[in-house]
Amino acid sequence: MSQDLHEIARKHKGHNVRWFRRMAPVYDVVEVFARHIREKVVSDSGLSHGAKVLDMACGTGAQSIAFAKHGFSVVGVDLSPDMLTRAKKKVRRGYDMTFICQDASSVPFADSGFDLATISFGLHDMPEEIGMAVLMEMRRVTKPDGKLVIVDYDVPRNSFAAALGHAIAKIWESKYYVHFLKVGLRHYLDEAQLSAGE
Ligand SMILES: C[S@@+](CC[C@H](N)C(=O)[O-])C[C@H]1O[C@@H](n2cnc3c(N)ncnc32)[C@H](O)[C@@H]1O
Repeated sequence: MSQDLHEIARKHKGHNVRWFRRMAPVYDVVEVFARHIREKVVSDSGLSHGAKVLDMACGTGAQSIAFAKHGFSVVGVDLSPDMLTRAKKKVRRGYDMTFICQDASSVPFADSGFDLATISFGLHDMPEEIGMAVLMEMRRVTKPDGKLVIVDYDVPRNSFAAALGHAIAKIWESKYYVHFLKVGLRHYLDEAQLSAGE
């Protein structure tokens, strides 16, 4: 990690831990609006039995648990101890599920160890430089024939409901949200030289 990225990561960590200490108690109430996406991510992934999944910026674990319920071996990584405390409470007997508190821009895993790496609603909650580093890590630790699944906001369409949703999100979301929407997910994919399957 370069000196600059190291400093950005250090500052982000302090901010993120404080921000999600406040958000953790209410996060799952709002997360309910994304619940329909979790199962779709699992089914669209088309993983084979025994596949290994890495869930970056896993938060309170909704996406990790959706994979674990289907029998996959899952590691969830997050920077917020408060979000992870809630994630760990969702683990049930028989799930092959591990959560670790770690910056996703530098993870302690060997190259090509996972069949799939995913990040949901995480990129808009970190500085762009960190987001790029996270995508690189996802690519590094995923098998050459594996998959990356990225779920996040899109630029709002031109409708009253979208504009209202965007206005509410600006109040609720972290300070990186507006920048993320401005540059767009496509920019992240292009910079990380990832091709999109949508
Ligand atoms: C909006 S939550 C999304 C949580 C979860 N993925 C979901 O879909 O509900 C964003 C999460 O990103 C985590 N996060 C932000 N920056 C991170 C980083 N550099 N490394 C790991 N986690 C990070 C936060 O702690 C938070 O839990």
